[in-house]
Amino acid sequence: MPNTHHRVAVIPGDGVGIEVTAEAIKALDAAGDRFGFTTEQTEYDLGGSRYLTTGEVLPESVQVELDDHEVILLGAVGTPDVPPGVLERGLLLKLRFDFDQYINLRPVKLYPGVPTPIAGLTPERCDLLVIRENTEGMYTGVGGEFKKGTPLEIATQESLNTRYGVERAVRFAFDRAAERRQKLTLCHKTNVLTFAADLWQRTVNEVATEYPSVEVDYVHVDAACLYLVNSPERFDVIVTDNLFGDIITDLGAAVQGGLGLAASGNLNPSGAHPSMFEPVHGSAPDIAGNGWANPVAAVFSAALCIAHLGHSEAAAAVESAAASVLPELKTMGGPDMGMSTPEIGDLIAERIARA
Ligand code: NAD
Ligand code: IPM
Ligand code: MN
Repeated sequence: MPNTHHRVAVIPGDGVGIEVTAEAIKALDAAGDRFGFTTEQTEYDLGGSRYLTTGEVLPESVQVELDDHEVILLGAVGTPDVPPGVLERGLLLKLRFDFDQYINLRPVKLYPGVPTPIAGLTPERCDLLVIRENTEGMYTGVGGEFKKGTPLEIATQESLNTRYGVERAVRFAFDRAAERRQKLTLCHKTNVLTFAADLWQRTVNEVATEYPSVEVDYVHVDAACLYLVNSPERFDVIVTDNLFGDIITDLGAAVQGGLGLAASGNLNPSGAHPSMFEPVHGSAPDIAGNGWANPVAAVFSAALCIAHLGHSEAAAAVESAAASVLPELKTMGGPDMGMSTPEIGDLIAERIARA
């Protein structure tokens, strides 16, 4: 039996992050009431406003408090008033790295009744899982600059790949494939990134021997973009590095109907530190403050969180309540959505209560 009481840290963040997190919380509360678990939620005001008023991004004392939670729900961070990278690296990536959330789980699923930009695509053909390595690659910040601002300026940004880091991501991906349609695709760039990709490919080949029922495939990342658009049915589980995973999951989001629908979980599978759940999208400063953000990505992320907490029936109910609202929307986000962000959240919560 899973625990029935959970400590949840909530970081609404910036822009639409704040708007969609409020709706994800409604879904979490409704699921707890309906399925018999309780959450003790602590909200943390981290993000652009705090930084602009106090200069703080993530005080050590706050990080220690966050660490004392089972899970974190995050909206999005980043605002045009703060230079790029300050919040993204200093808050979001710092939490992913320090809490060793080495898996970024990003489902790409076309739900019934959702308009996709891909003509003729059906839900049966689009249901895949991207497993993005979440603590290494181009994201570590290894590199530097020299002679900055001069004509001789040099900037380097290195991709760091360890056998340990690659192998744990690959093993996680094989486990997921073994539970699903038994197919794993490595997505990389073996034809150019010969050092890093070779480590990935050899690791996949070696781990594959332990999963004889899982078919293994390989695609270059550029071709993966093509296949995601014209034949997503080719994929079951994709395993890839940090940067490629970031990029292909925005493409995946577009294929499944928009960023307003794409969920993600930053997982620490050992449970040594909290896992963190957030939509794939950012703070969307272009639409923030209007009630035009689609909260379903945040609600689907809450469903991943609830599943992680061990309440699989509740998680399925949240996913299906949110999915049931989608065909009733006129667009998947923006001024013509037909319902406001809070109206969508209320409707989802009502349907969870009746599940
Ligand atoms: P974005 O994801 O915020 O927005 C991209 C486009 O998608 C925009 O047109 C936006 O209006 C739309 N969109 C996003 N969420 C939506 C929703 N829920 N409903 C409907 N439409 C939605 O990406 P961006 O504009 O490149 O970045 C804005 C800021 O967010 C930057 O500071 C960036 O670093 C940050 N960011 C943060 C996260 C995160 O915290 N996890 C993720 C991505 C980007
Ligand atoms: C995402 C975002 C982040 C990333 C940024 C904001 C650091 O784009 O979660 O997809 O690149 O991982
Ligand atoms: Mn991204």
